[in-house]
Amino acid sequence: LKHLPHFSRNQVAEHYDDSRRIWVSFRRGVYDVTEFVAVHPGGSRILMAAGGSLEPFWELYPVHQKSDVFQILEKYRIGNLNEEDVVEAQEAVDHFKGEPMRHPALIRRADKPFNGETPPSLLTEKFHTPNDVFYVRNHLPVPQVDAKTYRLEIDGINLTETTFSLQDIKKFPKVSISATIQCGGNRRTEMGKDKVVAGLGWTGGAIGNAKWTGARLVDVLRSAGFKPEAYKHAKQLHVKFDGLDTDQSGECYGASVPLSYLLDGNFDAILAYEMNDKPIPIDHGFPVRIVLPGIVGARSVKWLSRVSISEEESQSPWQQRDYKVFSPSVSLETVDFSAAPPIMDTPVTSYICSHNNGDKVKKGPVKLQGYAFSGGGRGIVRVEISLDKGKTWNVARISDTANLESTKNWSWVLWEANVNIQANAEIWVKAVDSGYNQQPEDFNNIWNYRGLLSTAYHKIYLEAR
Ligand code: HEM
Ligand code: MTE
Repeated sequence: LKHLPHFSRNQVAEHYDDSRRIWVSFRRGVYDVTEFVAVHPGGSRILMAAGGSLEPFWELYPVHQKSDVFQILEKYRIGNLNEEDVVEAQEAVDHFKGEPMRHPALIRRADKPFNGETPPSLLTEKFHTPNDVFYVRNHLPVPQVDAKTYRLEIDGINLTETTFSLQDIKKFPKVSISATIQCGGNRRTEMGKDKVVAGLGWTGGAIGNAKWTGARLVDVLRSAGFKPEAYKHAKQLHVKFDGLDTDQSGECYGASVPLSYLLDGNFDAILAYEMNDKPIPIDHGFPVRIVLPGIVGARSVKWLSRVSISEEESQSPWQQRDYKVFSPSVSLETVDFSAAPPIMDTPVTSYICSHNNGDKVKKGPVKLQGYAFSGGGRGIVRVEISLDKGKTWNVARISDTANLESTKNWSWVLWEANVNIQANAEIWVKAVDSGYNQQPEDFNNIWNYRGLLSTAYHKIYLEAR
C-alpha cells in the first residue's frame, strides 16, 4: 500500500459526486467508490459519506464491521490519507444505549443493532411463541417512544391527511389474528454451507407465531377517507409504511406492499398494539406495528409512524435492494437491483426443531417435532419425513390449525413424528402446501447471494448409540 499516493482530507472532500468521482476515507485508506455506489446493498445512503470518512456511518451500521466488507472496500483503494489527517478513532457515540433488556434465551446473532433468534427447540412448545423469546430482527437502533405522545400519520392518494393517537386507534373495532412472522433470512446458515452468502446467519428460529390484536388497517384508513372503489381504475399503487427508527440523517426503516392487498377482502392487515394479549414489547414495535400476514417479515414495520398510499414503492434499501431474490448466477458485484421485485408472499418451508444436526440419540423410538409454514394464506396439507434420502416417506401428525378451505392460513402448523432409529440416519423433512407447492430438495438451484428464502428440505444427521 506504501506505493499508493497520499492525499489530504481536503483532497478527499473535493470528490463528492459522480462528475468529480466519489471518494471516501476509512482509517488510513482513501477509496474511489464511484463504481460501487450502484451496487451498494444499503442504497444511496452511501453518498452521505461522499468526500468524507466512513467511520461515523459504520458506527451506526456495524453490519459493515466485518472482513468481507473490508475486502470489498480494499478493492477500491486508490491511496492513503496524509499522516497528519488520520484522526484517532473518536470516542464512539453509542446510538444503541437505552435499548430494552433481552431474554438470555435468545441466541444473539448481532448486538448493534440487536438481532436474536429463538432457540428452535422452544418453538414447538406452544402454538403462540411467548413474547420474551420471539425472535428480534432490528436494522437500526430501537426508538424510544412514549405511548402518550405517539402519533400515527395517514396520508396519500385519495386520503385526507389524518393523525391518530394510540387512544384513537384503540377506539376502532378490536380484532385479533394469529399469524406467523418469518424473516426472509430464516435458515440462511443452511444455504450458506456450500457457498457463502451475505447476511446474518440464522438457523431455523427467525420465525414465530403470535396472536396480534389491534385495529384493522382498512378501518383506520376509512376514517381518513379510504374508499376501495376509488382505486378501481388506478394504476399500480402502493401502501408505504415508515418506522420511527432512523439513522443519523433521519432516514427511517420503511417498506411497502402493493395496494391490491388492501383491496382484497381476504387480507388481514392489522395495526397491532397487543402481542399475545400484552402491549407489544419494545423490540417488536411498541406501541404500534403493522402486521401483514403471509408476507415476508420485512414488510411488517415496527414502531409505525406513517402509512401512505403512493404511486411509488418505499424507497428504503430494505425494499429496493435487500429482501429481493436474484438468480444463482448473480453476485453482489453484478446485481441489478431493479431486476427482481421485493419478496411478498413466502414459499412453503418446514423445519425439525427437536434435534440438531449431529445429535446423538438412543437406538429405538425417537419423537421428531417441528414447524411448517407457507405464505399467502396457503395452509399446510402434509409434512413428510424420510429416513432413507427420499426412497420412502412417512406422514407426520400436524396440529389441527390448518383450515384448507380457508385462504387465510396465516399461522404455521406444528408437527410431530415418531420414528425408529436403529443406525446413524439422515432425516429429511418437507412440507406440501395447499397450492401443492413443495420445497426443493436442496439449495443448489435456489442459492442466492443474499441467502434469502432458504427453504430446501431440512436435513439433519442423527447418530444412533
Ligand atoms: C449494507 C458495503 C458505505 C449504509 C451494506 C452491505 C455491504 C455494504 C457489503 C451488506 C452487508 C450485509 O448485510 O452483510 C459498503 C461499503 C461502503 C458502504 C463498501 C463504503 C463506501 C455505507 C454508508 C452507509 C451505508 C456510508 C450509510 C450512511 C448501509 C445500509 C445497509 C448497508 C443501511 C443495509 C444494512 C442492513 O441490512 O440492515 N453495505 N457500505 N453503507 N449499508 Fe453499506
Ligand atoms: N420495522 C422496523 N421499523 N425496523 C426494522 O428493523 N425489521 C423487519 C420487520 N419490521 C424492522 C421492522 C424485519 S426484517 C423483520 S423479519 C421483522 O420486522 C421482525 O419482527 P420482530 O423483530 O418482531 O420478530
